[in-house]
Amino acid sequence: LPVTKRGVTWKRSAFSISLLFFRMIHTGASDLIITPATTFKEKPDPTGLVFGTVFTDNMLTIQWSLASGWEKPYIKPLENLSLHPASSALHYAIELFEGMKAYRGVDGKIRLFRPTLNMERMARSARRTTLPTFDQNELLECIRKLVEVEQEWVPYSTSASLYIRPTLIGTEPSLGVKKPTKALLYVILSPVGAYFASGSFNPISLWADPKYVRAWKGGTGDCKLGGNYGSAIYAQQEALEFGCQQVLWLYGDDHQITEVGTMNLFLYWINEDGENELATPPLDGIILPGVTRQSILDLALNWGEFKVSERYITMSDLTSALEENRVKEMFGAGTACIVCPISKILYKGKHLHIPTMENGPELTTRFLNKLSDIQVRCFLFYNQIK
Ligand SMILES: Cc1ncc(COP(=O)(O)O)c(C=O)c1O
Repeated sequence: LPVTKRGVTWKRSAFSISLLFFRMIHTGASDLIITPATTFKEKPDPTGLVFGTVFTDNMLTIQWSLASGWEKPYIKPLENLSLHPASSALHYAIELFEGMKAYRGVDGKIRLFRPTLNMERMARSARRTTLPTFDQNELLECIRKLVEVEQEWVPYSTSASLYIRPTLIGTEPSLGVKKPTKALLYVILSPVGAYFASGSFNPISLWADPKYVRAWKGGTGDCKLGGNYGSAIYAQQEALEFGCQQVLWLYGDDHQITEVGTMNLFLYWINEDGENELATPPLDGIILPGVTRQSILDLALNWGEFKVSERYITMSDLTSALEENRVKEMFGAGTACIVCPISKILYKGKHLHIPTMENGPELTTRFLNKLSDIQVRCFLFYNQIK
């Protein structure tokens, strides 16, 4: 039945009733109701932007309830939300989000970078936090449409982009600690500037102290839930007080290296067996499966020039390697900066110097260039918006 196609008129009431039921659970991108803004904000100069502070004119919203399923999606002017003060997102952090970007290619066309990976991760986060799951293709289509409506907000630059923030919140108007029966999915867009000005890398320093833990086995570290981030800010503040920019998150009695700030971590070194190796911690439940992480692994495996491993690395592995001059480069990886070189770690009161910058950084730069190239010079039709 072409029930999700617009403009189909159904004459018989019996059909209408069953169709109504069918639509409740099959509402999709073709049901989008678009009433865009008629007044427009001035577009900022992308070179001076502070991340996530400027938003475009429109947003996507989709309501869900246990009784009616997903309702029709709307693209409408960006506005404040009206929520019951007991909404479960506000009390019990029943909330998740995603982070992805739309890029304007050198051909002028706008594309998303591996957006299906974000949709998969978002659906996993939804399951873990008991929020409703959704048709990933339909949501992606709605996001595509929103970006199309907001196409003029995608910076005319190969080093800036439009950040996309899909969000799903529990709106259950009750203080009971339970699976919500009401939810709101919305997507907002924010233009973001270049992370590194004119190709110059700024290496970061890290504070590593096992007294704070970002994620643990059986927890939610592998999902993008708001609660994971709010609870990490205290440690981030302490890192700043110690003169470091980010937290290097450790785990377990052996101080395994897990993630850096809100990035996945990579170490390029000569391993214990004398092999050139690119290593990153395995997805064992405490690591967020980053889209950039996956892309770096895919590229490195494809190049086939050195060993590529998803393996545990402890602080003692790292300190031994530093003493023996086996560390080449260390970097964080994520959508915001693609790759971010690491030059220093403060651990047990000692400053460990990481020679990333002295070594080029050859591999870090290669990943940055390759991935930015794919984002603006790889003319893939299926990720194209317009
Ligand atoms: C904890 C954490 N790790 C890693 C990443 C990198 O993920 P991605 O490459 O999908 O941006 C993020 C960013 O969202 C993150 O929040």
